[in-house]
This record gives sequence, C-alpha cells and structure tokens, in this order.
Amino acid sequence: MSLDIKRPNINKTKKKTGFIVKMQLNNNRGGKKRNLFFFFFTNYYRWILWFFLSLYFFTSFFAGDQSSPSIHLLSNHKTSSSLPSRALIESSVIKTISTGVFTGMKIYVYDLPASFNVDWVTKSDRCSSHLFAAEVAIHRALLSDSSVRTLNPEEADFFFVPVYVSCNFSTSNGFPSLSHARSLLSSAVDFLSVRYPFWNRTHGSDHIFVASHDFGACFHAMEDMAIEEGIPEFLKRSIILQTFGVNYKHPCQEVEHVVIPPYIPPESVQRAIDKAPANGRRDIWAFFRGKMEVNPKNISGHFYSKGVRTAILKKYGGKRRFYLNRHRFAGYRSEIVRSVFCLCPLGWSPWSPRLVESAVLGCVPVVIADGIHLPFAEAVRWPEISLTVAEKDVKNLRKILEHVAVTNLSEIQRNLREPAFKRALLYNFPMREGDATWHILEALRSKLDRSYRRSRVLSQ
Ligand SMILES: *[C@@H]1O[C@H](CO)[C@@H](O)[C@H](O)[C@H]1NC(C)=O
Ligand SMILES: *[C@@H]1O[C@H](CO)[C@@H](O)[C@H](O)[C@H]1NC(C)=O
Ligand SMILES: *[C@@H]1O[C@H](CO)[C@@H](O)[C@H](O)[C@H]1NC(C)=O
Ligand SMILES: *[C@@H]1O[C@H](CO)[C@@H](O)[C@H](O)[C@H]1NC(C)=O
Repeated sequence: MSLDIKRPNINKTKKKTGFIVKMQLNNNRGGKKRNLFFFFFTNYYRWILWFFLSLYFFTSFFAGDQSSPSIHLLSNHKTSSSLPSRALIESSVIKTISTGVFTGMKIYVYDLPASFNVDWVTKSDRCSSHLFAAEVAIHRALLSDSSVRTLNPEEADFFFVPVYVSCNFSTSNGFPSLSHARSLLSSAVDFLSVRYPFWNRTHGSDHIFVASHDFGACFHAMEDMAIEEGIPEFLKRSIILQTFGVNYKHPCQEVEHVVIPPYIPPESVQRAIDKAPANGRRDIWAFFRGKMEVNPKNISGHFYSKGVRTAILKKYGGKRRFYLNRHRFAGYRSEIVRSVFCLCPLGWSPWSPRLVESAVLGCVPVVIADGIHLPFAEAVRWPEISLTVAEKDVKNLRKILEHVAVTNLSEIQRNLREPAFKRALLYNFPMREGDATWHILEALRSKLDRSYRRSRVLSQ
C-alpha cells in the first residue's frame, strides 16, 4: 500500500485550493522497502488525512468556498450508506477529495431546443436506456455535476453539444435509424454558431459530441457505407466521445476522440445481481445470446460478424457446456450472472454491450473482435479481467476455455470482483466518482491544450 499526497497548482484565475489525495493500493508483497517513515504512514495515515481534511474544510469555510464539491459529495456519501466499512470510508473519503478537481476544467453544456434532445426521450423511453443511450447519460450526468459544469460559457474550457441522434426507432424492427444524424447535428451546429461566438472562434475544436453507435462519427451501421460517408466535415475538428474504437488506422476514428463504454442501465445490473443464485453458483459454462445466422447473408460482400457467430453456432450449438441462444429474451442479464464465460463476438462493428454486461456481472468476457480498442484502457485493465480469442481461433474455443478453466480462471474472476472496474463501465445519474462519465472527464482533462480560455490566459 502506498500513499501519495499532492498539492495541485494553485490556479491563478481561481481561488480554489485543495488537496488531491491519491491512494494507490498496491499489493505489498515485497515488504522489504518498508522503512520507518512508511511504517508510520501506513499506520497513521488515516489520522494524517483527517487532519489535512479538517484543515481543508476549515480553510475553505473561511475562504467562503461554499460550493465546494468535495463537501457536497462527502455528505452525500455519509447519508447514503448507513454502516460503511472502515476501508470503504477511507477509500471513498480519499477519492471524493480528488473529485471535482480535474485541474479546474470547466464544461459549458449548450441549452439546445428540445427537438435536438429531450423530445426524443419523451417520444420513447428506450431513448435513455438502449445500448446507444450514452449520448443521453453523459448529457444528464454533466447537467447533474456542479464541479465541472459551468453556467458561464466565458469561463468554459469545453462546450458540450447535447444532440440525441440514436433515438429515431424504426416502427418495423425497433432499430434506430441513423439517416437523420448528420442533418440533426449540422442544424445544431448552425443553431449555436449564429447565437454564440464560441464555435466560430475555434471552428469547434473545443466542442464535444457523443457518437455512440456502430462506427462512431461516421453514422452508419455498415462499415463500407460508414467509411464512404466518413466523418462529416463540420465535426472533424471537434472531440468525439465514441463507443467505436480499433487499434489500427480507421477513417471513422480519425478525429480527436475518447473511446467510451456502451450504456447499460445501472438499475438493470442491480436487478440481475439481486436475482443471482444466493450461493453465487455459475451453472452456465459458456454463454451467448444474440443474433447468430445459420446461413449468413452476403450483404454487398460482407457477412454479419464476419461469419464468426455462425462459426461458433455451427461448432458448439447444442454441445455440452455451451449455452447458445439466438432468440431475444429480456431477462438475459440473469443468465449472464449465472455464467462463467460470456462470449463477446463482433457484430457489424467490433464492440458490443456484452463487454460491459459481462464484466459488471462477473462473467469473464471472451472478446472475439480482432483489433478492438476497449474503453478506458488505462483505468480498466482489460487483459486482467477478460480473455481475448482471435477471430480465426473460434474453432478452438472449447480448448482455449478449458485451458483457462484449469489455469487462471479463478485469478481472472478475482480481478473481476474489483469494484473500480465495474464502476468505470457504468454511467450514473448523478455522476459518481470513478464512473464512466468521471473517466470521460479524466480523458478530457488531457485535452485541455484545446481550451481557448487557457491559451488566452497563457499568452497574456
Ligand atoms: C426517422 O427515420 C425515418 C426513417 O426510418 C425517416 O423517414 C424520418 O425522417 C426520421 N425522422 C426524423 C425526425 O428525422
Ligand atoms: C459564425 O460563422 C457563420 C458562418 O461563417 C456565420 O453565419 C455566423 O453568423 C457566425 N457567428 C457569429 C456569432 O458571428
Ligand atoms: C459476396 O458477394 C460479393 C458481391 O457482392 C461477391 O463478390 C463475393 O464473392 C461473395 N462472397 C461469397 C463468399 O459468396
Ligand atoms: C490467462 O490465460 C490465458 C491463456 O493461457 C492468457 O491468454 C491470459 O492472458 C491469462 N490471463 C491472466 C489474467 O492471467
């Protein structure tokens, strides 16, 4: 266990002072380095922290900093858990202090006409809960946040443009039509660029958009078409928060971007956990439910899932220990919570909501999507909590899983129980420290060189 207390730079433009207290819990196996100072710290750090915390609150009280987000979050925490464990108190206190700091980063959320956003939610509840709903969740989380959101655009580093483009659900198949995405976004940009000076002064480079569907800002579910249509010209200088990501060059990510997790409602995760067998037994060995074509159609030269799902179905359908199902079932999360391995093969695009669903429900994600760039790779150590199987190796899936089952399965399962991973993959309302929105803010902080305000302060 190591402790690291840092004092942030005191920002000249703001009177805010505070401590960032970071605790890194490293397994302290090589205990040789332990010296007296360290020993003192590990035993008394709580009191040292409380001392500094009290000092912090005391001084901020006199500085009249009543809107301190730390205090707010801290009291929230106290009321929300009646009897928290000591470890929980310690780690959450330490963490809440670092919330809201983000180097003083400020985001202005445009207030667009309802036709760009909330009208879609009014039309259909699914708009805020389906797999593309990160566009809604991030907007709401930012509105709920008092530490980073600013109501004064003059002091903003970034500008968030809340347009919900994924909620025009087809009446026939229920899938969202993306055909209007470009025009909806472009009229939003027209709207704000004539009413505010901020878009024109940077050509949108400090503006943030969410593109939460298959191929990000290319707004098409089919890769060929997505590439052909490309990222709209007016978005190319902006920052895109997108679920799509690959670790090779791809025209649909040639834009400043952050790879984000798909949206899974936290309540639905909790419901599945509540329904889990009390003994925690996982009686399904390898699980997949979803679209698997027996005879995949050749759609202009391409097969769904590059034929991977069909290959899995053909080889393992009906086989012992494989629970593969092609039919939709609303309660499928209660199956995930009973499963050991959850297959996450590509669909049309490499990512799928299963990545998040299985990880947060303790089922080992088996990622079968060559070249996928998983969200928040720095915070979520995917190699420790998932397995990766190359698309060409699905024919050996059973062997690969059996090998893991007798070697490192319990280690992966233990890693999966680390609450920080689960937290990082879910969006909450209001935002919580360490959750998906929080990690997005963390990623945006590293792009503060795009801030117009800061570049002005520096050049003065
Ligand atoms: C919604 O999508 C349909 C096509 O599925 C399209 O005809 C319609 O114009 C779209 N609605 C809006 C408001 O863009
Ligand atoms: C920004 O530029 C556009 C196009 O050049 C123009 O129509 C608009 O009026 C400008 N906005 C402002 C606030 O000056
Ligand atoms: C799929 O269709 C394309 C034409 O769209 C054709 O060139 C290709 O050979 C077909 N592939 C297979 C495996 O049938
Ligand atoms: C578990 O074993 C598999 C296959 O041997 C390996 O690919 C994977 O990296 C291992 N994972 C961990 C967390 O040790």
